[in-house]
Amino acid sequence: SEQGCLSVIVLGASGDLAKKKTFPALFHLFAQGFLQSGDVHIFGYARSNLSDDGLRERIHGYLKGASEEHLSEFLQHIKYVSGSYDSGEGFEKLNKEISEYEMSNKSESSRRLFYLALPPSVYPSVCKMIRTYCMNPSGWTRVIVEKPFGKDLDSAEELSAQLGELFDENQLYRIDHYLGKELVQNLLVLRFANRLFLPLWNRDNVDNIQIVFREDFGTDGRGGYFDQYGIIRDIIQNHLLQVFCLVAMEKPVSLKPEHIRDEKVKVLQSVNPIKHDEVVLGQYEGYKDDPTVPDDSNTPTFASVVLRVHNERWEGVPFILKAGKALSSRKAEIRVQFKDVPGDIFKSKKQGRNEFVIRLQPSEAMYMKLTVKKPGLEMATEQSELDLSYGMRYQNVKIPEAYERLILDTIRGDQQHFVRRDELKAAWQIFTPLLHDIDAGNLKAVPYQPGSRGPKEADELSERVGYVQTHGYIWIPPTLA
Ligand code: BG6
Repeated sequence: SEQGCLSVIVLGASGDLAKKKTFPALFHLFAQGFLQSGDVHIFGYARSNLSDDGLRERIHGYLKGASEEHLSEFLQHIKYVSGSYDSGEGFEKLNKEISEYEMSNKSESSRRLFYLALPPSVYPSVCKMIRTYCMNPSGWTRVIVEKPFGKDLDSAEELSAQLGELFDENQLYRIDHYLGKELVQNLLVLRFANRLFLPLWNRDNVDNIQIVFREDFGTDGRGGYFDQYGIIRDIIQNHLLQVFCLVAMEKPVSLKPEHIRDEKVKVLQSVNPIKHDEVVLGQYEGYKDDPTVPDDSNTPTFASVVLRVHNERWEGVPFILKAGKALSSRKAEIRVQFKDVPGDIFKSKKQGRNEFVIRLQPSEAMYMKLTVKKPGLEMATEQSELDLSYGMRYQNVKIPEAYERLILDTIRGDQQHFVRRDELKAAWQIFTPLLHDIDAGNLKAVPYQPGSRGPKEADELSERVGYVQTHGYIWIPPTLA
């Protein structure tokens, strides 16, 4: 190709993330023709002593949704190199393998993409090894890193400084896979390409906004990891805060990645310190049964946190960021609730509020809750909705996986959907005081039943800051007949 052959190096190749996300994403890109057969090579790197076939066998079962032919072709492009994460030997060997492939390809330039599917403790040493032994002499070198990026402001800044000494910001791709979700990517279009929303998206019309993540399973085998982080670091400080940025930020000067990221940083910097009485923490009963979780753990598996934005658009509007594990259902959504109608003449008939809901997953959809006349002879009102359900409207479109899209962005050099260093810093600034207070035991997680809605205190908090639940209304995703 014009830019030369591509080597994708997956470090931590035998780990969970690589198997479940990275390789399947590469496979889908390959099957759709985004990675050209003669021009791409994939290297798995890890400590285990495996053969090429050994790695192929391990990942085989996770590669779905394309033909057998594609699959065996894809697998042929995978090689395995074993080595440690902190010695030169392994990385020298890796570099040799990559170079040999590049030479055999005979294109003038080449591209090297390193994907760190690794625990963060080895990021600095692995990056150092890449920098020392594996830089591309004739084209670009890019590095994808995954959260956690530190545990608080100081540790995150330390990590950023270490990586910053080795790579330029434009070589570093900090992944937040929520930015690769279809409806998250739609937010910018929705907000800034629709006249309808422009005059409504502010404190004059919006009463409160919720950004909610629920999962219907617990920490499964990840208790040991999870206990050191908790739900705020695992979901809220990164995934939900990224969504928050796109919902709350001002219009960027243009669609250039730097312009968009500038606006995200600005809105993060406008967030007030979090107040303890606007936080509810929960821990599901049974969480501590995991032998890798300490018996006295205060780590939240549920949190509801109110963010207040100090600017002209949002003063007084609470943003409720809520996330929990082991709840009654699995979903992620943004819920914009509008203020009551002034001088409402239907009041006696209990009109519900307008809401605009963006369902990120599952069953991607946007729907607008409206009050309508109940069809029939009586003059009665009821809540209904304008519904844009993707499954109905886009029946023949396959929505790409988040990782698929983000890896493709990296290959194309588009950093729009990646987290910039100053953005990460601003995100940690918001949550670090709260996290330190939780770690010090100053805020306690209240127990909740697995399979429930979470602590009732969280519903009370939402209500206290202004959210009005509409009773008797349930949105049912439409299904194809
Ligand atoms: C990860 C978290 O970042 O996101 C997990 O570490 C969580 O705890 C996952 O399960 C959720 O991602 P998704 O795409 O399934 O919503």
